[in-house]
Amino acid sequence: MISEATDLAADHRRMLADLADRQRLRRLIPPQGVDFSSNDYLGLARSPRIARAIRQALDRGVPTGSGGSRLLRGNHPEHELLEEEAARFLGSEAVLFFSSGFAANAALFATLPQRGDLVVHDALVHASAHEGMRLGRAECVAATHNDPTAFENVIRAWRHGGGKGRVWIALESLYSMDGDRAPLDAFRALADEREAFLLIDEAHATGVFGPEGRGLAAHLEGLENVIVLRTCGKALGCEGALLTGPAFMRDFLINRGRGFIFSTAPSPLMASAVREALRILAGEPEHRQALVARIDEAARLLSPLGAVCRGTQILPVIIGDDARAMAAASAIQAAGYDVRGIRPPTVPAGTARLRISVTLNASLDDIAGLAATLEEVLT
Ligand SMILES: Cc1ncc(COP(=O)(O)O)c(C=O)c1O
Repeated sequence: MISEATDLAADHRRMLADLADRQRLRRLIPPQGVDFSSNDYLGLARSPRIARAIRQALDRGVPTGSGGSRLLRGNHPEHELLEEEAARFLGSEAVLFFSSGFAANAALFATLPQRGDLVVHDALVHASAHEGMRLGRAECVAATHNDPTAFENVIRAWRHGGGKGRVWIALESLYSMDGDRAPLDAFRALADEREAFLLIDEAHATGVFGPEGRGLAAHLEGLENVIVLRTCGKALGCEGALLTGPAFMRDFLINRGRGFIFSTAPSPLMASAVREALRILAGEPEHRQALVARIDEAARLLSPLGAVCRGTQILPVIIGDDARAMAAASAIQAAGYDVRGIRPPTVPAGTARLRISVTLNASLDDIAGLAATLEEVLT
C-alpha cells in the first residue's frame, strides 16, 4: 500500500526540473509560420493524389487498422502489394514495410548483426540506429564522420584483436543535421573488400535525389551486401519505412525481428498511401525539379549569411552556443518563419545550430523573406 504522503513521481519531477534549469526541457508546440523545419521536402504530406488514394482504398474496403501483427491476422494484401511494387521500383530483391523508420532501424540493428560481429558506424548516425545497437549483441564502434579510412582502421584493429565475425558498415547517405552526403562508392568498395554488409539510411535522400527520386544509393540496390532504409514520413509525405535488400534480410526480420513480430502491422491505408507516393516519384519529376530550384535560391541567399550549403535541402547555420542558437531561432519564429534551433545531444556539444530545411511548402518569396530576417537576427 502506497502512503498518501509518498510522491511517486518525485524523482522524475526533479529530473524534469533539472532539464528546465539547464534550458533543455522540450515542449510540444503546434506548427506555426512558414515551413523551414519539416522533412516534408516535396510537400507531399498534403498531396491530393495521396489523399485520393486513401479515399479510394477506403471505398474498396481497405480497413483503417490492421488488427494484429503481420505474423498473425495483420498481414493485409495492401502491405504485400506495397512491398512488391517498392521492390520493383527500387530494384531490390526484397522489401519489408515498418510502421516507422525508428522501428525499422531499431529492428535492423538489433537483429541482423550477431554476437561476435562488428558494427562500425558513422559517428553521426541517427538515434534509431543507436537504439538497435543497444539491443543487439554485436560489438559496436563509432568511426569518424564520412571518413572511409577511419572505418577501415576500425575494422583492421578489430580483426587484429581477434574479431572473427561479420562486419556491418552503417551510415546515412545524407545527414539530417549537416546536409552533407556520404562518399557512398568509397564505402561500397570498403564493404566489398572487407566482405562486409553496408547498411545505408536514406531517410533524407529518398524522394529528393537519384533517378526518379530513388535516392543517392539507388545504384547500390540489388547488391547482395547492401541493405537500405527508406523512410516514408519525409519526402514521401506519408508514414512508415521500407527496408530494402536481399531476401534473407526480409526473411530474417520476419522470423527474428522482435520489433516486427511483436507489433501491430501499420495501417493498410498507409500502405496504399505509400504506394501512391512511389508512383508520384516515378511519374512526376516536377516536384524534385521545383525543389532543386528552391535549394539553389536558398544557397544563393543564405550562404552569405553563414548557412552551410552543400547542394542539399538541409542548410545548417552553426551558432555554437546553445542559448544563442535557441534565441536566434525564437527571433526568426517571431518573424513568421518556422526555423528550429538544434542543441546537444541531438548535435555534438558546441555545435548548436539553426537547421533550415528547404521544402516545397516554402515559396521563393518565403526564402527571400527568411534571408532578410536571418540577416537582421544574426548581425
Ligand atoms: C536518418 C534518420 N533515420 C531514421 C529516422 C526515423 O524515421 P521515422 O521518423 O520514420 O521514425 C529519422 C527520422 O528522424 C532519420 O532522420
